[in-house]
Amino acid sequence: MERHHAADPDRRRFLQVAGGGLGVGLLAALTPRAWAQTGAAPLKIGSIGAGRMGSALGALFIKAGHPVMFSSRHPENLKELAARLGPLAQVGTVEQAVAFGDVVVLVVPYSALEEIGKTYGRAIASKPLVLDICNPIGRRDGDAIVKWANEQGGAGLASAKLLPGAHIVRAFNGISYRRVGDIAHRPGGLVGVPIAGDDPKAISLAEGIIRGMGFEPVLVGGLPMGKYLLPGTPLAEEHTPAEIRQIANTLH
Ligand SMILES: NC(=O)c1ccc[n+]([C@@H]2O[C@H](COP(=O)([O-])OP(=O)(O)OC[C@H]3O[C@@H](n4cnc5c(N)ncnc54)[C@H](OP(=O)(O)O)[C@@H]3O)[C@@H](O)[C@H]2O)c1
Repeated sequence: MERHHAADPDRRRFLQVAGGGLGVGLLAALTPRAWAQTGAAPLKIGSIGAGRMGSALGALFIKAGHPVMFSSRHPENLKELAARLGPLAQVGTVEQAVAFGDVVVLVVPYSALEEIGKTYGRAIASKPLVLDICNPIGRRDGDAIVKWANEQGGAGLASAKLLPGAHIVRAFNGISYRRVGDIAHRPGGLVGVPIAGDDPKAISLAEGIIRGMGFEPVLVGGLPMGKYLLPGTPLAEEHTPAEIRQIANTLH
């Protein structure tokens, strides 16, 4: 059954946000069918990184009706992924994905963020939402990066330093790529996704996208709380929204 849009508070809130920040072109692209199916407007998503987590999340964005351009340093290797995910998926260079996206998703090793920030930072900062999935992990990124990120106040504030002016929301940082597809739209109660960000419009957009993917976003605080959105913290793994709120209260 189609949802009654006029009575849908999520949609009303999103329209206010989108109308205020994203302009007429994007609003014109919204189709009632996609609204009805996902509860969130289709947004073009530029994914920087399309490995284990990038492809798992990309599949969920596409399932929710969002066109996705996957990118990496080797886009030629991503053609098979895009073909498997259907007509909403395409492949491009990082530059093309940044230009394509209404929203940019960063899903690369943390050690890649500095270079990405230097090369594409200005274009990334012009987007109303940058979803930061990236985690500083010693065994992959090196202990110096982990130490540096901690000195900045944790992953959220560190990402903000690497991407000046970007409207960052951290999300999905503690959920495994192996699980994220299986637990979307969990019957009997959605899995919560803790998010952290400072920009209200970016947060609203992120919430709409995450709901459409079949999860319940739970804002746990501003970017300083991003330090808890990592594997191995109490907020990592799979929790109900109520559990996330309870855990987050103990972390302030
Ligand atoms: N795996 C998980 O379950 C999981 C869960 C939550 C969060 N995360 C976080 O998500 C991020 C990605 O993890 P992953 O497991 O998906 O890693 P992965 O499988 O190694 O994929 C990394 C992707 O980033 C691309 N990449 C690397 N350097 C790049 C650069 N300089 N510019 C553009 N693209 C670049 C890689 O492609 P090319 O090498 O071809 O450029 C690849 O597509 C990490 O920060 C991780 O901590 C992962």
